[in-house]
Amino acid sequence: MCGIVAYVGPRDAQPILLDALGRLEYRGYDSAGLAILNGKGVEVRKKSGRIEELAKACRSKPVNGKSGISHTRWATHGAPTDTNAHPHLDASGKLALVHNGVIENYLELKGQLTKSGHKFLSDTDTEILAHLLGDTFEASKEKGEKKLIDAVRKALTQVQGTLGIAVIHSDLPGLVVGARRGSPLVIGVGNGENFLASDSQALAPYTNRVVVLQDQEVVALHADRFDVASPLGQKADIRVEEIEGGAAASDKGAHPHFMLKEIFEQAETVRSAFRGRLDPDEATAKLGGLNLSTEELREVERIFVLGCGTALHAGMVGKYLIETLAKIPVDTQHASEFRYGDSPVHEKTLFFAVSQSGETADTLGALREAKRRGFRCLGICNNVSSTIARESDGGVYMHAGPEIGVAATKSFTSQVVIFTLLSLLLGRLHSLSAAHGREILNALDRLPEHIHSLLKQSEKIRAIAHKYAQAHSMLFLGRLANFPIALEGALKMKEVTYVHAEGYPSAELKHGVIALIDKETPTVLIATHDGVYDKNLGSLQEIKARGGPVLAVAHEGDTKIAGMADAVFSVPRTHELIQPILNVIPLQLFSYHTAVALGRDVDKPRNLAKSVTVE
Ligand code: M6R
Repeated sequence: MCGIVAYVGPRDAQPILLDALGRLEYRGYDSAGLAILNGKGVEVRKKSGRIEELAKACRSKPVNGKSGISHTRWATHGAPTDTNAHPHLDASGKLALVHNGVIENYLELKGQLTKSGHKFLSDTDTEILAHLLGDTFEASKEKGEKKLIDAVRKALTQVQGTLGIAVIHSDLPGLVVGARRGSPLVIGVGNGENFLASDSQALAPYTNRVVVLQDQEVVALHADRFDVASPLGQKADIRVEEIEGGAAASDKGAHPHFMLKEIFEQAETVRSAFRGRLDPDEATAKLGGLNLSTEELREVERIFVLGCGTALHAGMVGKYLIETLAKIPVDTQHASEFRYGDSPVHEKTLFFAVSQSGETADTLGALREAKRRGFRCLGICNNVSSTIARESDGGVYMHAGPEIGVAATKSFTSQVVIFTLLSLLLGRLHSLSAAHGREILNALDRLPEHIHSLLKQSEKIRAIAHKYAQAHSMLFLGRLANFPIALEGALKMKEVTYVHAEGYPSAELKHGVIALIDKETPTVLIATHDGVYDKNLGSLQEIKARGGPVLAVAHEGDTKIAGMADAVFSVPRTHELIQPILNVIPLQLFSYHTAVALGRDVDKPRNLAKSVTVE
């Protein structure tokens, strides 16, 4: 949440900051700002609204200078106004700060600073930190750049909470100091110029060489060098990594929105999730990154999956797959609940933290808690340089490429593919037959082809979406592995259309939810052929008997459903355990087209941010 970019080099900072900030807008988009050292002092521009508003302000009154910091905000403390936008200045007006995170003891610090005469302009926690930094800077006995580094290090000892920060001071042109505790920050290594950003993708047009700042580290960034120090001031080990993808990977291409682009990428992204990981000879999967021997895997008696939102839904499909194929009991829990709860956990439990971004604060907190309790915890992440990927004891990368749309789509199907591989691997170490294993492998292999054919229905789904777009509320029903698909369909609908939607197991209908059914409330019922097909038909009849419109996800050629439902999202038939991956795709398209019909900002829905790095 919130995105930071900083630049030091020979070029004009303003266009670089605005451009790179644009690639971070998915992290928060309620206001934005920048501060540049203009040779005389710190010059600030900040505006509520999207980055384009800031760009307009900068175009009409440009800021000239070769080093600066910038920020796109997702509000935590204080409304999204011009004043609350970052950067914030200290009392002298010479120090400017941008911040991603939450200062938990800001009220206490504010009280102390107010007593010593400080006045604050904004309602933010960040401004308190700027003033604290300013005072610490003035009090420091160090000279030159060390003075700012010393101030940052000392101020951070007084601050509780999470942060990624970038700071400039008008006495120290050509220097940006950054620090990280909890919130991600990477250094972009250029030729005669250097960058700092919340995410390496922001820097894709400028450099593909990055250094991921570790927790508690402080960096002093100059045009020709950067020095990273541990919290105690020792020089830190630096590992320059080359990132994949480049600028094109975070481009919309011919698609009007990232969400649609990412839905359409799924034929490829599911393939990337299983590429090189299928072992047809042994009818199993190869997942070397788990860092577990065959014996260790055999000893796993229980599995615990942690995640938030879409990632947790993928884990819920994973539970069904692992329990069915490997007969290992699986618990799934919202990461936020696990980290503060004290549910007993069986000693031979293997944990999985699932996260596209690898930076979700609740999932990271839960992973740390599981590790603190002595459990081995593996990650299923997309972002390879993320904190969760680094702090896990091993794991599986999704290789889905950058996911920019706030609504997770391709990451979900990749996560489910990975759970399929995992359940196959574990199943084959227990009682799963080679014949059954091969059926799963074959179905995975044909998945991209099935997704291709399914995506051809986008226009048909658009017409259905237009017909039902005015609904105030929708229900999504499914059973067994399709219950999490119903949850995921409802989540997609809520977040991009703002239409109220609930996901339930179909059979729960009778236990209360049926009271919501009327002719204005469409129900999306997942009813592909499986062991509960007839039960789903029963639910369909119950809804129709009460006048509710039913939009069914059904197999191509299912005339029975076609004759009963008001609309059908047809999906190709595949192995029952792989079917949920296909079934979710029409629901993603349905939400997308409904959002477009309603004129919503699909890639940046209100109140949301892509990567939730605060609790
Ligand atoms: O990056 P993560 O996978 O950890 O993100 C978890 C959730 O915040 C995320 O899935 C969220 O629910 C999405 N906006 C759903 O579309």
